[in-house]
Amino acid sequence: MQINTEELRRQFDERLAEIKSSTEIDSLRVDFLGKKGKISALMAELKNVAAEQKKEVGQMINDLKQSIEKTITEKAEELVRLEEQKKIDSVEAYDATLPTSLDLGSYHPITLIQREVQDIFTSMGFIVENYSEVVDDYHCFEALNIPKHHPARDMQDTYYLDNGQLLKTHTSAAQNYIMRKYGAPVRAIFPGRCFRNESTDACHENTFFQLEGIMIDEDISISNLIYFMKTMLSEVFKQDITVRLRPGFFPFVEPGFELDISCTICGGKGCPSCKNSGWLELCPCGMIHPNVLKAGGIDTEKYTGFAFGLGLTRLAMMKYGIKDIRMLNSGNLKALSQFSDK
Ligand code: DAH
Repeated sequence: MQINTEELRRQFDERLAEIKSSTEIDSLRVDFLGKKGKISALMAELKNVAAEQKKEVGQMINDLKQSIEKTITEKAEELVRLEEQKKIDSVEAYDATLPTSLDLGSYHPITLIQREVQDIFTSMGFIVENYSEVVDDYHCFEALNIPKHHPARDMQDTYYLDNGQLLKTHTSAAQNYIMRKYGAPVRAIFPGRCFRNESTDACHENTFFQLEGIMIDEDISISNLIYFMKTMLSEVFKQDITVRLRPGFFPFVEPGFELDISCTICGGKGCPSCKNSGWLELCPCGMIHPNVLKAGGIDTEKYTGFAFGLGLTRLAMMKYGIKDIRMLNSGNLKALSQFSDK
C-alpha cells in the first residue's frame, strides 16, 4: 500500500490559497486535522502498510500533521489581525472638535462668585491659599485668641469629630497656618467651606462658604481695610459701593467691625431687601489682634494687619438674587444652572 503525504500537502496548500476568513480556516482545520479528517484517514491506512515501512511512513504522516497545524495557526492569527484592522479602518476618524451632544452642566453660583472675588484680589497682589476642612482646636480657636471655655466659642456651634479634630467653623482657622507659612509682609485670601450645627431655614445652613483675607505689613491701618473692601465690592456689584463700619466683637480682631454696604437694590434709600435701613450687613472685619499675630510668629512691634471674613454664600445670594440659602446645597440642577452660561 502506497501512502502519498505529498499529495495531501498539495491538496492542503491548494485549499489554503483560497482561504479568506477565519471561519474558512476553521473548516479547513476540521477537514484536515479533525477526528474524521484527512490526516486521521491517512493514519488509519497505516495498518495496510508493509511492516518494515510502518515506522517511516508513520513519521511522515506525523511530520505532515505538525506542519499543517503550524500553517493553520499562523494563517488564523494573520486573518484575525487583518479582520481587526478592517474593523478599525471602517470606523470614521475621531474628530475631537465635533460638538458633543452631552449636557455639560454649569458652574455653581458659589464657584462663580468665588472665582470673581479671587480674580479681583489676585489683581491687587493677594495670593490664594487653600486649607483643610478638618482642623484642630488650636487653629480654629486658640490661635485666634479664643481660649478653651471662652464664651465666644458658643457663637459657633461646632461639629467635633471622635479624634478630637473638628469641621472648621470659619475660614479664620487658616490664619495661623498662613502667617506661619509666609511670615510678614503677606497678602492672602483663602476661600473655603465651613460647617456649623445650625438648624436650616431660608437664611441658615449648616454648610456654607466664606472667603477670608489678611493683609499684614508695616503701617497697615483701617483705611487700607476700607479701601480694599470698597474696591472689591464695587467690582463684584459693578457699581460704586458705599461702605460703613459698625463696631463688632470678634476675639481675633481689635478693633472689630461689621462692614455694611449701601443696599444694591434701592441704592441706600430703603426697601424691603434692606429692611428699610438702606444698608446690608456683609463682611465682618478688623485689625488683627496682637495675640493672633504673635501666635503666627509675626513681630508685632513692626507689623500690623487687617483681616476680613466675607460670607461668600451671602454674597452669592445677594448678587444673584437667591432668596433661599437651601437652594445652593439642593443639587437642583435646573435651579443652579441659571447663573452660569457654561
Ligand atoms: N470668622 C468670623 C466668623 O465666621 C468672621 C470674621 C470676623 C472674620 C472678623 C474675620 C474678622 O477675619 O476680622 O464669624
